[in-house]
This record gives sequence, C-alpha cells and structure tokens, in this order.
Amino acid sequence: FRVEWDIETAEKDGFDHYMLKEIYEQPRAYRETLQNRIDHENNKVDLSKEISLTPEEIRSLDKIHIVACGTAYHAGLVGKYVIENLVRVPVEVDVASEYRYRNPIITDKTLVMVISQSGETADTLAALREAQKRDAKVLAITNVNGSSVARDADEVLLTHAGPEIAVASTKAYTSQLIAIYLLGLYLAQIRGTQEDTVIANYLQAIKELPAQADKLLEFAPTMKQFAERYAHYEDLFFIGRSLDYAVSLEGSLKLKEISYVHSEAYPAGELKHGTLALITDGVPVIALATQEDIYDKMVSNIKEVKARDAYVLGIGLEGDQELAKSVDEVIAIPKTLPLLTPALSVIPLQLLAYYAALARGNDVDKPRNLAKSVTVE
Ligand code: G6P
Repeated sequence: FRVEWDIETAEKDGFDHYMLKEIYEQPRAYRETLQNRIDHENNKVDLSKEISLTPEEIRSLDKIHIVACGTAYHAGLVGKYVIENLVRVPVEVDVASEYRYRNPIITDKTLVMVISQSGETADTLAALREAQKRDAKVLAITNVNGSSVARDADEVLLTHAGPEIAVASTKAYTSQLIAIYLLGLYLAQIRGTQEDTVIANYLQAIKELPAQADKLLEFAPTMKQFAERYAHYEDLFFIGRSLDYAVSLEGSLKLKEISYVHSEAYPAGELKHGTLALITDGVPVIALATQEDIYDKMVSNIKEVKARDAYVLGIGLEGDQELAKSVDEVIAIPKTLPLLTPALSVIPLQLLAYYAALARGNDVDKPRNLAKSVTVE
C-alpha cells in the first residue's frame, strides 16, 4: 500500500488551498514574529539588535511616512493609528505609486517606512529610492530577507510569516501588524511617550494574540454559511470607524480580489453623505464595532443601515450584549486592547472572502488578472 502525494498537496498540508492554510498559520506567524523581540523580564520591546537607529535619531524624528501597495498599504493604515497613538508623531500613509509623484515633504527628520511582503514590488522599491534621494532614513518591514527592499532599506524589520503562496495576502498582513505593534512600542519606549505600565499592558495583550487568533478560526463554519448565502450578491458593504475602518478596507479588498464580488469599505460616519443611497432591502453589510471610544456612534450607524433593511453581520467584542440587538448575526472576537483588535477582527473577513470565492467556483489561490508580486511600475 502506497499513498500517492503530489508535491502541491503535500505543501498544502491537507488544506484545499494555500490561502486557507495560510489563514490557519496566522497564530504561528504571530508567535514567530514576536520571538526574540520581547525582553520578558523587563517588559520591554527590544529591537536594538535589528534596528540601528540611535536613540538620538529616534528622538529627533518629526514625522513618519508609511508607503506600500495593496494589502501592505492597509497594514500601513493601521500603523498610522498605532504609531500616532503610542508615539505621538504625525504619520502619513501613501500608496507607493502615488507617493513619488506628489512631491512629498521629506527631511532628514522624516522616517519613511515601507511595507512589503515580497520586498520586490516595483512601486514600493521606487518610493524607497525616492525617499533616500531626499535624505530620509528608510525602514522596511518585509517578509523576505535578502529581497530588493530589504537590501536597499537603511533598516529592516522582518516579519516571520513564512512563505506566502496564495495571491491574496493573509498571514503576511497580520504579521505586518505584529511588527508595527512592536515598532510602535519600541519607539514609544525610547521617546518616553508611554508609561512603563502601559508598555507592559500592551506586551501582555500582544502575547495573548496568537491564542486568541487560534480561537477565531473556529468561526470558519459561520463565515462559510454566511458566504454561501451571500456570494451571489453583486454588492456588499463593509463599515467601521477608526481602526475598524482600516480593517474594513482590507476585508473589502480580500473579497474583491478572490470572489470578484464588488464591495466597498466605508467609514460608517460617512455613509449618510453618499453610500447610504445604495443600501436597500437585503443588501449585506459587514459592520465592525470593536472600538470602545466610538462604539455608540457606530451602533447608531448600524441602525441607519438596518432602517434600510440591510442584512447586517456585526463583528464585536466578546461580552458585548448590545450589538446583537442591532444586527442580524454577530461574530464576537476575544477581548484585547483597542489598538490590537485588527490582528483579530480581520480573520473572519479573510474567511468570508475565502468561502465566497469557493462558493462562486473561483480559483482561490490564483485570482484572475492578479499576481503575487508586481515587479512592474
Ligand atoms: C500584489 C499582491 C497583493 C499585495 C501587493 C503588495 O498586488 O497581489 O496581495 O498586497 O502586491 O505586495 P508586497 O509584496 O509589496 O506586500
């Protein structure tokens, strides 16, 4: 008796697609990206072995530009909230193909952060070189050691997601978030913008993320059911505020990329200025409501779409008794600190995109017209 394995089946580790495998690898990718970067005894982030910027250089920074493409750009949007909140330095986020052409204001006190899974994206690489030409220090967050971005950048912070094969990025995105959390805390420590106890709290919560992410994978059957019911719709909306909006953008991109369902992500407070006109009976809306400081306003926005008879899937925090009253279905994500929720709330959205693509009979790992790494400008 011999089991016949083809290489691809073996590499998929028993999963039907690379994308699903990579979604399930996220808890491990979080752990590996955190490894050797936390000084557990002193409750501090230690990136000093990897990042050579001196404390003086870090203290002299007066702004940060984050530049990336696609999913990495969405990680950058989360980065803006994280860094501005923890470090209190202004952060701008740009799509790389736009950045170079807007004559950005860069000085030697600007840190330009490029984010790229592959480290080979032509637009990102060109933005990196442009920033260096203008005297900025460039710090790269990338998943590929030795890639062009890693070689050219002044500083490199690697994500340890492992090889990502599916065109739709999942574990690379969430590992980029983990790297951003570490970097934000590291800069905050050096600039003294957060109390030691605050840093310790974050580290405690970050260490819980892998197990929490693992638990979220249990929602796969729920997301599959929802996807099968709504995959034939032509339009779907994601709404959220602040960090939930940033995550909505990524959820919407994932769905478009592989299921080809048209979707839009909207900052929920902006609905009434346009998109609400598109909400009619039965239109599916995914509403993220994980941010405590804006929770009541978000629930009012959900009521606005419910009043137009949308079908709403709410994504809230465990222990939230209120959300269920305003939506049709709820996914409760484990409780964590507000800045950390994206590393969890995106997981059900990835599963939704995966199962929607499957329900529509698409090639999940190789969507039409798209490539894993785009090396032309
Ligand atoms: C391509 C991929 C996307 C990815 C983007 C940026 O468009 O299909 O999934 O987000 O490139 O790639 P990078 O390797 O620079 O993160």
